Amino acid sequence: MKRIGMGLVGAGFVGPHHIDAVRRLGFVDVVAVAGSTEESGRAKAAALGVPTGYGSYQALIDDPDVQVVHNATPNYLHYDVTSAALAKGKHVVSDKPLAMSAAQAKRLVNEAQRAGVVTAVTFNYRGNPLVQQARLAIARGDIGTPHFLHGHYLQDWLLKDTDYSWRLDPEKGGASSALGDIGSHWCDLAQHVTGLRITHVLGDIATVIKRRQKPSGSREAFQTGDSVDSEAVDIGVEDLASVLLRFDNGARGAFSAGQVCGGHKNDLTLEVCGAKASMRWRQEDQNELWVGHRDKANEVLQKDPSLLDAGVRGYAHLPGGHQEAWADAFCNLMREIYACIAAGPPYPPLPPMVASFEDGFRANRIVDAILESAGDGGAWTRV
Ligand SMILES: NC(=O)c1ccc[n+]([C@@H]2O[C@H](COP(=O)([O-])OP(=O)(O)OC[C@H]3O[C@@H](n4cnc5c(N)ncnc54)[C@H](O)[C@@H]3O)[C@@H](O)[C@H]2O)c1
Repeated sequence: MKRIGMGLVGAGFVGPHHIDAVRRLGFVDVVAVAGSTEESGRAKAAALGVPTGYGSYQALIDDPDVQVVHNATPNYLHYDVTSAALAKGKHVVSDKPLAMSAAQAKRLVNEAQRAGVVTAVTFNYRGNPLVQQARLAIARGDIGTPHFLHGHYLQDWLLKDTDYSWRLDPEKGGASSALGDIGSHWCDLAQHVTGLRITHVLGDIATVIKRRQKPSGSREAFQTGDSVDSEAVDIGVEDLASVLLRFDNGARGAFSAGQVCGGHKNDLTLEVCGAKASMRWRQEDQNELWVGHRDKANEVLQKDPSLLDAGVRGYAHLPGGHQEAWADAFCNLMREIYACIAAGPPYPPLPPMVASFEDGFRANRIVDAILESAGDGGAWTRV
């Protein structure tokens, strides 16, 4: 198989997982990493065993051996990096959110169309085998027509006022923190699993921690600790949100997103209640899918390839009882994206499991609509 060259911009928390995932494919060479300075680029490359470290994303994009650019920078750089890569005819794997706003995301959708390359957004929870099993079962009618979708995405890593991230600075993270960062995953997953579209939202948002200690140096995601050198800053973006939803088939929904909920580490939970049964998947127990019945005992389907439908069995790589997790689901996404790239032009469409730039744009629109709704005092707002 022809080898494909990959370059990563932004090697903080999630960037190295992009590298791990593509390395597992067997036909991808991780060619270069770009950091914000020459020094950090070189240091990250050395730490990750990557041949070249660049001090700017443009230098990485200009490298002829880089065919696919992975964008894992803080949100405020998403548009610039992705746009520059597309202008150079490179394939782009963008971490979510696609851009800082729906308007910016729409521009990237258009630029990607013109470039004619493979583009994808890492709404990675789609890559879990039991998420795909739920999607297939719901499409087949196993739970009947969905009428209620509910759940939450709760974390606790910003619970203390000494916790800080660029996500809380609107210049770097965008107008939203909890909704943009994790609420967007929940909305994408709900729509992906059911095939429904969120049409209207009613949002209530809050900034629970209004003043935080911002460390003077930079701090990557999920790093914690009291900083000797810090300044108190006012926080203007939400760290907690509750949202009512309406879907295009008339179904109703509700979810909460919060980064200040003690004990919830990465608690993404989605339940779909249909005319016949309900189905629930929890990221923190991702090897189990709950099916709720009215007239017989509830079931728990374990992630066991021999129990999964043939159409999704290939996403489970270990036998039953051998737990698969976040990184494996992330790798499933990369396997699909790189299969399209390897097929060569004209590139085949992405399989449904992979979020397109259009899906990324939709996620940005939903977050924008929730903020608008909350700004209007909690008015129903069209997406
Ligand atoms: N898909 C997921 O589940 C998931 C999980 C975490 C983060 N993310 C997304 O990934 C992106 C990065 O998040 P993170 O948590 O890894 O953040 P992070 O702060 O841990 O890492 C960002 C990295 O980008 C680097 N950087 C900053 N400016 C740069 C520049 N000009 N050129 C190159 N590198 C630069 C920083 O030094 C840092 O190493 C965000 O958009 C976030 O929403 C997605």
